[in-house]
Amino acid sequence: MEQSFIMIKPDGVQRGLVGEIISRFEKKGFYLKGMKLLTVEKSFAEKHYADLSAKPFFPGLVEYIVSGPVVAMVWEGKNVVVTGRKIIGATNPSDSAPGTIRGDLAIEVGRNVIHGSDSIESARKEIALWFPEGIAAWHSSQHPWIYE
Ligand code: TYD
Repeated sequence: MEQSFIMIKPDGVQRGLVGEIISRFEKKGFYLKGMKLLTVEKSFAEKHYADLSAKPFFPGLVEYIVSGPVVAMVWEGKNVVVTGRKIIGATNPSDSAPGTIRGDLAIEVGRNVIHGSDSIESARKEIALWFPEGIAAWHSSQHPWIYE
């Protein structure tokens, strides 16, 4: 089944929003397939955001991502990439609808608390980058109550 890479950024961890954010994905019906708290090096953050290296905000973005621990996760479920992005909300919290994570919990684009893969292909790359050790396989007993 489809998987997405979701990361709670350093501001989300510092502000005590880990439980709140995990809860939103859990309540939707997605399965938590991998999770770890870690602080990444500058070179690792640059790799994660390599596609944005030419952007003027890139140095600040990297500095922000390395500024404290993050929670790296793999979530699984039908359409989890697109639906995960809807749950997260628009990149700039000023444009994120109320009810979304960024719409409810953030104000500034440079402190938008969460990352979510923007395509199945980026999810695959990001999961390989963040979980080179692989992720444990498990199956939820809730499955028949979530999927028809
Ligand atoms: P991007 O991949 O465009 O957005 P998203 O996280 O929604 O997939 O940008 C990555 C991060 O870069 C974004 O979450 C916050 C930061 N950023 C800025 O700091 N300033 C900006 O103008 C933009 C577009 C992004």
